[in-house]
Amino acid sequence: MLRTTRILQVDPDSPSSAVLDEAAAVLRGGGLVAFATETVYGLGADATNPAAVARIYEAKGRPAFNPLIVHAHDLAMARACVSHWPATAELLAKTFWPGPLTLVLPRSALIPDIVTAGRETVGVRIPRPTLTRELISRTGRPLAAPSANRSTGVSPTLASHVLADLGGRIDLILDSGQTTVGLESTVLDLTTDPPRILRPGPISAPSLERALGGYRVLDELGSVTSDRPASPGQLAVHYSPRTPSFRIDDPQQLVQVPRPEGSAVVTFGGPEPAECLGFAYRFLLETPDIAARELYRVLRACDDLGVEQIVVLFPPDTADWLTIRDRLRRATRPFVRTSDC
Ligand code: TXA
Ligand code: MG
Repeated sequence: MLRTTRILQVDPDSPSSAVLDEAAAVLRGGGLVAFATETVYGLGADATNPAAVARIYEAKGRPAFNPLIVHAHDLAMARACVSHWPATAELLAKTFWPGPLTLVLPRSALIPDIVTAGRETVGVRIPRPTLTRELISRTGRPLAAPSANRSTGVSPTLASHVLADLGGRIDLILDSGQTTVGLESTVLDLTTDPPRILRPGPISAPSLERALGGYRVLDELGSVTSDRPASPGQLAVHYSPRTPSFRIDDPQQLVQVPRPEGSAVVTFGGPEPAECLGFAYRFLLETPDIAARELYRVLRACDDLGVEQIVVLFPPDTADWLTIRDRLRRATRPFVRTSDC
């Protein structure tokens, strides 16, 4: 159903009380509000209202098997969403919350089936921005919020991305500028022993292990190909721009890539290889932090520019590029020379 989407500007550090009250009223009434977290924009609904949560799936075109992350403003609210709070959760929450870490724990009766896609576990986190926590606090309910994009597309790091994807499908967008981290939270399953990373993200396995006093954390990477993966966000194709996108590992291969007019090349770490010179659009993302913040904006800019194809030169296979490599693997297809086919 088409509805009017309003956009309100808001300061992320000292949000206007009137704007927060208005957004909280929409959420309490069962509406959908998009807001920034430190990672990406989320599409929020009252997590305790199944009808409101159903509207999230509808607006995103999200498959019913993919569970949503629940956002709390403080520890008490986060704990109310789960039925068991192990010592590992306590340690990790103390170290990383508010922040880009989602903990998967057994759910409490507060969280309806539709939020967890029928699972007995729920993903919970406390986001960092003052605006986001204040909004949840004023709503007085935990907020279910997936990334505010159409399903399988690129996550939004600007309000304009949300408008482009979900305009006419949601009630309100709070525009507080570009998100600071730029990639989705690390998802850690604490219901297994040892705990298992379901989605790599800004908080690395070694940081988690340090916070747990050296306790091992499983780093489950790579595509999950079953129909019902442990973390459905880890589907092989995800985070994809509309523009056909290919990846290569070796700069030497760049010369073999056909370049229709209007091709783009994206490189990481620098310096940019000389082979990039012939591309119409060139993006260099110099550090892992810059790449995290800017990657989705660059992929969406290519879509908007009507670029013919995106060629991505993979960043080095080192720990600091791990999350970027994970997202790129899902956003692109391997480049195959026609003579190899
Ligand atoms: O940074 C983020 O996490 C952003 C912001 C808005 O908080 N949210 C986000 O949500 O990326 P979404 O829905 O796009 O991704 C949530 C991921 C999916 O891979 C989903 O399958 C996984 O978390 N997930 C959620 N609940 C889960 C559960 N109970 N068990 C396993 N995986 C779960
Ligand atoms: Mg998402």
